[in-house]
Amino acid sequence: MTDVTINNLTTPWWKHGIIYQIYPRSFQDSNNDGIGDLPGITARLDYLKWLGIDAIWLSPTFPSPMADFGYDVADYRDVHPMFGTLADFDTLLAEAHTRDIKLLLDLVPNHTSSEHAWFRESRSSRDNPKRDWYIWRDAKPDGRAPNNWVSAFGGPAWEWDEATGQYYLHSFLKEQPDLNYRNPDVIAAMQDNIRFWLKRGLDGFRVDVIDWMIKDAEFRDEADPYTRVYSAFRPEVHDVIRKFRQVFDEFPDRVMVGEINYLGTYEYIAGLYGVGEGGDLIHLPFNFRMILTPWNAVDVRSVVDEYDAAVPEHGWPNYVLGNHDQHRVASRIGRDEARVAAMLLLTLRGTPFIYYGEEIGMENVPIPQELEQDPYGIRVPGMSRDPERTPMQWDSSVNGGFNASAAPWLPLSPQYETVNVTRQQNDPLSMLTLYRRLIAYRREHVALRTGSYRSLSGAGIPIDCFVYLRAQGDQRILVALSFSAEARAIMLPERGTIHLSTMLDREGETVQLLNLRPSEGVIVAL
Ligand code: NOJ
Repeated sequence: MTDVTINNLTTPWWKHGIIYQIYPRSFQDSNNDGIGDLPGITARLDYLKWLGIDAIWLSPTFPSPMADFGYDVADYRDVHPMFGTLADFDTLLAEAHTRDIKLLLDLVPNHTSSEHAWFRESRSSRDNPKRDWYIWRDAKPDGRAPNNWVSAFGGPAWEWDEATGQYYLHSFLKEQPDLNYRNPDVIAAMQDNIRFWLKRGLDGFRVDVIDWMIKDAEFRDEADPYTRVYSAFRPEVHDVIRKFRQVFDEFPDRVMVGEINYLGTYEYIAGLYGVGEGGDLIHLPFNFRMILTPWNAVDVRSVVDEYDAAVPEHGWPNYVLGNHDQHRVASRIGRDEARVAAMLLLTLRGTPFIYYGEEIGMENVPIPQELEQDPYGIRVPGMSRDPERTPMQWDSSVNGGFNASAAPWLPLSPQYETVNVTRQQNDPLSMLTLYRRLIAYRREHVALRTGSYRSLSGAGIPIDCFVYLRAQGDQRILVALSFSAEARAIMLPERGTIHLSTMLDREGETVQLLNLRPSEGVIVAL
């Protein structure tokens, strides 16, 4: 999909398109080794085209010892043999582009793997030229770590290196040492890695923990280590992000998506767009509010109202219901509620992100302890991310169509025989049908893609319903979502025609007093 001209303004693809996240280990295993791969994704592109999405983002596929399943990169310019080869990547990119689908990879710049050549050099001696590429500090006089910073995965953020007699910083696992972005050579090296892929035709990157890249210059102790006032989220990080952005801007139409502090204020998020026309920092700093917000109309509405108002003129909003680090939306809020959430996601002002399997209502899969994979869950009981990373459920055959026969790296959902793509493709009322209809509806209606947003309130709108208007030119679309377990009636400001219900059964009904069934959402054209 190329840029679209709307009202004489050219809107880049990533503003009006929909981005679909794939966790490559779990999408499609083409060589039957139990782990998904790039040729597998290529083989499923026709499905993604049929679904109607515009771009895919792959969680990391680079060479890696897989201590954190690829978020520990050992070489930024290649493909892990488990996922395929660079040639397989080129094929995937070309095949995606043939179908008008863009491709994003996952850049992990905050840290490398401890197996990366840079770190091997850095740890080889104190006077190695790459020593300063990582964050090395002396012990306190009594031998303790330099400060009280903690790893996001539990325990101290410092690891003692016996050979060279210093500690190094790792904000995540000790196998993920943090790079030192106060060293300009590190910025330049990472810029070159970005360039490598963009030159190859890649359409952009999702950038991992982008606002962790700079740490306090004085390494001050945190008052509360978990707030990360000094160990991450520093304002100086803008300078590094800007340098990355300059590389994106060397190429036309590329996008930088940034994983940012889940708990950042709206002001904080707004700042990460940067300044000037189009901003000079992140195109799409992730908005994780829908993941954190309790599922009720009052909270969801205030999130959308406040966030939408906070995004600067030169920025663009985005919404996401789930990802590879968060429990599945259908498990968090409920199956019927997840249908309403789908309508919300795909009718708001801002780029929607869909996590693979959300479109068929995949739920968390309980993983027996002996099969647990996630290092976070293994270190900190209860925190495992395995339940949301299980193989895609394609059909009711062996291993759900994920592969021919090998045991998948994580067990398939016990629901796979009933909850799968093939079944839902043949069911006019399924979650998949709903997603596909919503995606098509968004594509066909400029008011949803780029129109204005305004929520409605007052007499006639029950407190447990969220009603909003999207408009562009003559096109006016009202969305009414019920969060109630009971029937609700909404008095609309004027008569309209129902175009879509989350229950997929009342298209064409003309309404002014709109009766909603429990947990029903509808789109009404005014
Ligand atoms: C955020 C990623 O989404 C997560 O999966 C990973 O473990 C950490 N960053 C560390 O890279």
